[in-house]
Amino acid sequence: MEITGPWTRAAAAAGLLKDGVARPTVFAQMSARAAEHGALNLGQGYPDDAPPQAVTEAAVAAIRRGQNQYPPGAGEAVLREAIAEHQATWYGLRWDPAREVLVSTGATEALAATILALVEPGDEVITLEPFYDQYAAMIALAGGVHRTVPLTTRTDGATGDLVLDVDEAELRAAFSERTRLVLVNTPHNPTGLMLWVGALQAIVEEASRHDALIVTDEVYEHLTFGPAHLPIATLPGAQDRTISISSAGKTFSVTGWKIGWITAREELLTAITGVKQWLTYSSGAPFQPAVAAGLRLPASAFHDLAAELRSRRDLLTDGLREIGFRVSVPEAGYFTVADASPLGEPDADALAERLPSEAGVVAIPLSAFYRDGAAGEASSYLRLAFCKSRSTIEQALEQLDTWAAPRR
Ligand SMILES: Cc1ncc(COP(=O)(O)O)c(C=O)c1O
Repeated sequence: MEITGPWTRAAAAAGLLKDGVARPTVFAQMSARAAEHGALNLGQGYPDDAPPQAVTEAAVAAIRRGQNQYPPGAGEAVLREAIAEHQATWYGLRWDPAREVLVSTGATEALAATILALVEPGDEVITLEPFYDQYAAMIALAGGVHRTVPLTTRTDGATGDLVLDVDEAELRAAFSERTRLVLVNTPHNPTGLMLWVGALQAIVEEASRHDALIVTDEVYEHLTFGPAHLPIATLPGAQDRTISISSAGKTFSVTGWKIGWITAREELLTAITGVKQWLTYSSGAPFQPAVAAGLRLPASAFHDLAAELRSRRDLLTDGLREIGFRVSVPEAGYFTVADASPLGEPDADALAERLPSEAGVVAIPLSAFYRDGAAGEASSYLRLAFCKSRSTIEQALEQLDTWAAPRR
């Protein structure tokens, strides 16, 4: 019997299946390679750090007091209130916690429910390229048409570093009367780029002109190393057409808890809830009050985490530069992009396959974040995570240095 259905057919058409079954993500493949070779895993973006103590203790206390059954579908009131408070305190955005905030199973479910609720077959959805790989999968499953705006690359004349950016004219040109959604990911995975205000304004203008909705994925909102994150919903005319998505995973080093959230005006949130309730209904009962406690931590707790991460970014980027990679120095997030072509390695897919056995280090080829793996001029780029412990990063640099020595 052929085991298939509309979603598996859409996934197959989008190249998401291999031999009829879900193609493992590159992260799963590379983490398996790390285990196989005992290699240091700078591939998948999960931190080595423990969550803030207050957050851990709140989760333990919730389990002990018996908060272990289904939470309400929209999320525990205490968390919805903390999310609304956080948006008001940090960004001046006002949301009604009872009607305009929805708790989800990570940003992943929030993105899935939003795209499935709002995209009709044939609608166009715009993202940057490279993009977080779930976007392509969800757009395909909804029957949407994925349009991308490629990031531009250049070499900084003074430092020789790689600079990634977005071109405003290309951004504007991606919009048409078929555009339903523009999915904005800032700070951006995989590059750590933060969209500057001019680019955000262009998105709001074009979305308004074409009556499109804006979905913003802000899971790295607190991991910034220079200017603070600017939510697109704060721009004039944006809040009413914007669905803002974030999650606790990165902010509190709890990627396994899968607590995310959406803020949007009631009419949009009702449509999204209509899908979300049939996906997981609800999840993470004891983690919800713990994340509420985290969101109410003083600003210094958020800044301390970002400062620590910034020092590890510097450790990794300085080390990779010395080894001979052309590096980009990200403004936010967990990852840096390193170009291996100066080391005589033009094909990052092949290099990522070999690195676990040759250098004992796992990295992800940037092609994993391009449609059909076609990375063009980024074909020699790797993504490496610096959310790991200092000792792991130092050890990985040492091993990469030994590996690179004959290539310099
Ligand atoms: C850009 C981006 N969006 C969403 C997610 C998923 O978030 P969550 O773990 O909360 O589902 C990730 C995780 O890596 C991400 O990098």
